[in-house]
Amino acid sequence: MAFTQPALPFPMDALEPYGMKTETFEYHYGKHHKAYVDNLNKLTEGKDLASKSLEEVIQISFKDPSLTGVFNNAAQVWNHTFFWNSLKPGGGGAPTGELADRIAKDFGSFDQFKEEFSNAAATQFGSGWAWLVDDGGKLSVMKTPNAENPLAHGKKALLTLDVWEHAYYIDYRNARPAFIKNFLDNLVNWDFAAANLAS
Ligand code: FE2
Repeated sequence: MAFTQPALPFPMDALEPYGMKTETFEYHYGKHHKAYVDNLNKLTEGKDLASKSLEEVIQISFKDPSLTGVFNNAAQVWNHTFFWNSLKPGGGGAPTGELADRIAKDFGSFDQFKEEFSNAAATQFGSGWAWLVDDGGKLSVMKTPNAENPLAHGKKALLTLDVWEHAYYIDYRNARPAFIKNFLDNLVNWDFAAANLAS
């Protein structure tokens, strides 16, 4: 099996006090994320792509219309692993250090960043993702549909929020804005974003 599903960076029940139930992770990690890994392995079995890194598969398949299925599954494997690492029990609040300085410089203020990020997450029509990215030395917010991600567009992801309905329906039903607010208030792993900025 070429591609594997990394372990969650916290126990499945670790975010219960912070607005995300164990059941969410049983489905979102245990079924949705796992299915993308299984599908990617089926689609690449016996092919050259199976020996590439996940990042290479994403970049190769994004440019090739005959590999849309491979791209969708490969990107969703990567996106979800990145999302789990964007969460932390008792996270949220504001970043510090270099990341805080860069956000203040490129967005004007941390509150302005929060507004832009929330707006991107709320207005992504249908399924997709909201991201904080380093775009050639300037931090910005982007939203992507379905499985698309910054990596496919040559940008460095720092942080993400999954806004597919499967990400919030168990905890928040149809109330995506409440899910976004809870992410920013209680879950953002700023250490992960800072490490990505520094890498
Ligand atoms: Fe998801």
